[in-house]
This record gives sequence, C-alpha cells and structure tokens, in this order.
Amino acid sequence: MARETSIAPIVARDVSVVLGNSRILHGITFSVSAGESVALLGPNGSGKSTLVRAMLGVVPLASGSIELFGQDISMRHKVSWDEIGYVPQRVSAGSGVPATALEVVKVGLLGPGKRLWADRGRKAREAALAALDAVGLADRANDHVQVFSGGQAQRVLIARALVRQPDLLFLDEPLAGIDRESRETLAELLANLQSQGLTLVTVLHEMGELESLMTRAIELRDGHIRRDGAPPRPDPGHDDLEHDHVHPHESPARTSHHAPILRTEMP
Ligand SMILES: Nc1ncnc2c1ncn2[C@@H]1O[C@H](COP(=O)(O)OP(=O)(O)OP(=O)(O)O)[C@@H](O)[C@H]1O
Ligand SMILES: [Mg+2]
Repeated sequence: MARETSIAPIVARDVSVVLGNSRILHGITFSVSAGESVALLGPNGSGKSTLVRAMLGVVPLASGSIELFGQDISMRHKVSWDEIGYVPQRVSAGSGVPATALEVVKVGLLGPGKRLWADRGRKAREAALAALDAVGLADRANDHVQVFSGGQAQRVLIARALVRQPDLLFLDEPLAGIDRESRETLAELLANLQSQGLTLVTVLHEMGELESLMTRAIELRDGHIRRDGAPPRPDPGHDDLEHDHVHPHESPARTSHHAPILRTEMP
C-alpha cells in the first residue's frame, strides 16, 4: 500500500447529524489510525449506519467536521474516494437492473478518482473474478444477481467494495444473513487485507467471526459514543461492554499467514 501511514484515515470532530426533526448523532469525536480495525457497535437505531454515511459524505453534518486521509469531506472533490470502499447495510445488489455478479463487481472499479473505462478489459475482468473468488462466488460470476439469495447478494456487494483495493473499508453489518462458511471466508479475506495495512470500520451486532480481527470497538448509544476502547471479549461472568476506560489500541492487529488475495491483479 502506497499510502503514508502517518495520515489518519479518519478524524471526526464534534460531529452532529440532524435528519428530519431529530438529532441522530451528538458531538461524535474520534480518530482512526492507519491499520486499525474498528468495530462500530450499538443497539438498533443508535446511529451506526448514519455515522458511516456521514463519513462517506452522503448525509449532511449539522455541525462538526470529518477528515478522510487528511481531507475535509466538505471539499468532496478533493477526497480520494478511490481509496475508500463501502458495503452498505442490506440492500439488493441488482436494484432491479439485470446484471450479472461480474458486472456488479466491475462497477466497483468506477467512481471518482478511477480511470475512465477502468471497468473494461481483461484486467478488469480478472480483478472482478478475483474479488468474486475471494467471497466464494467465482462459479456464479455470470449469473444474474436477481436470482441470488440475500446472503449471496451481500457477498457480491462485498466483492464490489474489495475490487477497488481500498485502503479504508466501511462494512455495515457484513455478517448479517450470510452463512457460517461465508462468514469465515470473509474473516480470512479481511485478515489478509488487514495484514497489508487495510483500515477497517465495521458495523457489527455481534463480533462473531470478525472478533479476532478487531483492534478497537466504538459503541454508540442514542447517537453518543458510549465507549471507545479495546473490543469486548466474550468472557462468562464478566461483561466487557460495561468495562470502561480500557486503553484503546492495546490489541495489536492480527497478522495473517495466508497468501495475499486481490492485491496482485489490478488493471
Ligand atoms: N433519513 C432519515 N430521516 C429521519 N430519521 C432517520 C433517517 N435515517 C435514519 N434515521 C433515524 O436515525 C436513527 C439512527 O438510525 P441508523 O440507521 O443510523 O441506526 P443503526 O444504529 O444503524 O441501527 P440498526 O442497528 O438498526 O441498523 C434511527 O432512529 C432512524 O430512524
Ligand atoms: Mg444500521
């Protein structure tokens, strides 16, 4: 990864978001260093998806500021969006438009900062196939996503985000609705990317298979940060979620011995 590690991928300062008549996020302040894997936790409606969307600049800030890789997102055209991947929470991959899994994944090669026609040609096809392979769907590349199950469609969207080879990846509930084998495949894939320096922000209800990847957890409650520190570890008789004031960044990023996936085949 070419990016300078000294630039923080995310700096959020006193961020508030108002949607409709409701204040959804209140004075959110945190920063994420390169290579961290942050679990964003909290109950339904606590503001997790809104915070992710705020960081992507798709919901307006009522106050405060967010910088991605040192660039304020209010200067939208200056942000290196090509370094940033996003898997939204629970949407259908095809949106009614007939498209194969391969075509959906290739769309991930487009966008601000990407070359014109970046989704065309043999290398684009190889990159998309590698991304589909990484989520266990290589054999479904030419199938229409409309016929995919919810979990398979979710994996196509993960492949679409990964084909960009992002330095910063937002995943909103990536484990929801996918089977254990696919969750394990995803965890292994993310561990590989993490060992190469990927910064990860993942909305989770349960840490599940991603638990060992997470170096930090930020817990939201009613739009406030309730806790920011080491990820909770399941320990019978000891509720880590209630254990505040733990030192952030105390768990080193997990490294992986698996061969890199996806990093070699870019156009
Ligand atoms: N466009 C909107 N207009 C008004 N309220 C909204 C809008 N989008 C989200 N909200 C409200 O903001 C709150 C936070 O929603 P958000 O989707 O961020 O929660 P979440 O933590 O991701 O929840 P879940 O775990 O259910 O996905 C909810 O009360 C929701 O109803
Ligand atoms: Mg959500």
